[in-house]
Amino acid sequence: MCGIIGYTGKRNAAKIIFQGLKRLEYRGYDSCGLALVEKGKIILNKQAGPIAKLEPFIAGQKVFFSTGIGHTRWATHGLANRINAHPHFDCQKKIALAHNGIIENYFTLKKELIKKGHSFRSQTDSEVVAHLVEEFFRQTKDLEGAFQKAITKLQGSFAFVLISVYAPGKIFIARKDSPLIVGLGEEENFVASDIPAFLPFTHRVVYLEEGESGVIDAKKIRFFGRRRRLRSETVSFRSIDAVKGRWRHFMLKEIYEQPEVIERISSFYVKGKKIHFPQLGISQSFLKKVKKIYIVACGTAYHAGLAAKYLKEGLSQIPLEVEVSSEFRYRQIKFSSHDLVISISQSGETADTLAAVRLAKVSGVKTITICNVMGSSLVRESDGFINTLAGPEVGVASTKAYTAQLACLFLFFLYFSSLRQETVSVQRQKFIKEFQQIPRLQREFLRLNFIKIKRLAKAFSKYGCFLFLGRGINYPLALEGALKLKEISYIPAEGYPAGEMKHGPIALIDEYKGVVCIITQGRLYEKMFSNLEEIKSRQGKILALATQGDRTIKNLTPAVIFLPSLQEYLSIFFSAIALQLFAYFVAYNLGRSIDKPRNLAKSVTVE
Ligand code: F6R
Repeated sequence: MCGIIGYTGKRNAAKIIFQGLKRLEYRGYDSCGLALVEKGKIILNKQAGPIAKLEPFIAGQKVFFSTGIGHTRWATHGLANRINAHPHFDCQKKIALAHNGIIENYFTLKKELIKKGHSFRSQTDSEVVAHLVEEFFRQTKDLEGAFQKAITKLQGSFAFVLISVYAPGKIFIARKDSPLIVGLGEEENFVASDIPAFLPFTHRVVYLEEGESGVIDAKKIRFFGRRRRLRSETVSFRSIDAVKGRWRHFMLKEIYEQPEVIERISSFYVKGKKIHFPQLGISQSFLKKVKKIYIVACGTAYHAGLAAKYLKEGLSQIPLEVEVSSEFRYRQIKFSSHDLVISISQSGETADTLAAVRLAKVSGVKTITICNVMGSSLVRESDGFINTLAGPEVGVASTKAYTAQLACLFLFFLYFSSLRQETVSVQRQKFIKEFQQIPRLQREFLRLNFIKIKRLAKAFSKYGCFLFLGRGINYPLALEGALKLKEISYIPAEGYPAGEMKHGPIALIDEYKGVVCIITQGRLYEKMFSNLEEIKSRQGKILALATQGDRTIKNLTPAVIFLPSLQEYLSIFFSAIALQLFAYFVAYNLGRSIDKPRNLAKSVTVE
């Protein structure tokens, strides 16, 4: 939610910030802006709309600036227009600030500052911070002190970058409940809300700890308050991973990366006949004693969690509750010391999931995160970590991170059940062998079905509303299929367990409604078939995802995508791809902004 960046050093700050913002645009794309400081002056350029709008300013920029900050916005307070775009000035235009998060007490602060003579230009909560720093600076002429004092007055969540004519060459930084990472260079330093922003220039990073603030210049980084040893880490993301290359959209590129991701997961976590999790951070003796597992997550990651319920069924008897983080965090659960909370998150920064994990931690419960971003808040705050190894996911609609989450959950429950002796070695070997076939079969599936799915999506994109149906493990897949479609095509779509049809949703069905059903060979096949007969008799337009070799399905509908004939629980790795591609092509036919759907952002760092 909002991307912020700062640069100070030997290069042209305007260009670095512009490029960095382009790599952060998935975090928000309502408006953008940058501020540059040099020789007693701050130059500001802000635009409503995408980062590309800054291009003329960058191209026309003749003066060299060594220091600057930039912002790409996902609006919370105030319209997505130019005035509300960041960075924000103080009254004198001597201080500029970009913010990610929400200042919950901004209204009170703003009223007090107005009384003291400050005048505001925007409707944002963020602008108040620039004025607050100005106010304290006015009193003390100490910018560092003013910045630190301003922070103590704020409630809510924030990551800031602030520059000023009073301290050229410096960027003041702070974080609370929003991520901020410093990138260390030679004679230059970077700061951003996510690593890809500066990945082409450095892989050496320092993560700001929760509640930390400080200042950077081209040579050093210094934290305020308590002394801490500066520990830099080297990140392994290849910058190429975050580039679209020959692909039309990141989403399509990321859909196609799924076989490679599963391969990576398999070779990292499966060694010979054994599964191991090197960063699990939780002892085997504790795992053997766990009495209950809670999975917490949001959106697509929550759907992966729901699938885990079914994935673990044949493996472990452990009671498992799966809940959306925004509900879980406000529940009054009586945890036991033998409970385990597993969070699932692509970004590792989702505010509600982070809060759910913190709730578990203060209750003394052990936590593991299944996460895609090393060094993210969730990884740093959880006891254990299972890296989903999907590589940077840029498309706002989650695809490869989702199947990576499914794969990690599957391997985790296989590992967990083996520790607790709930499965036997022969059974596990069989599962592992089958799992290792997935990448090859996914590649084949993509090769055989790409054109077909494109054609079917074109035919179905005329329908104004969709139901996605499944039973058993296909039910959470139906939820995910509906979410993918609605978020990138804006067509209303709902996922349901097929058995629930008659309890309401069937009222929607007529010849103008699309029904996507996942009907794989398994013990609920016949039940599912009867549900589809009911839809057919009401003229709903059915698209079926069925198992290769199913001859009866054609009696129901000519629109069928065949999934490889495998154990039903493994079919999710193919139906996921089919549903993602279907949503992609429907959105494509409707001319939607696929990688940056309206009103969304990749990383949801506010409640
Ligand atoms: C949908 C999507 C979102 C995220 C959700 C959680 O395609 O991407 O629903 O899954 O916002 O985000 P993470 O996984 O970063 O916690």
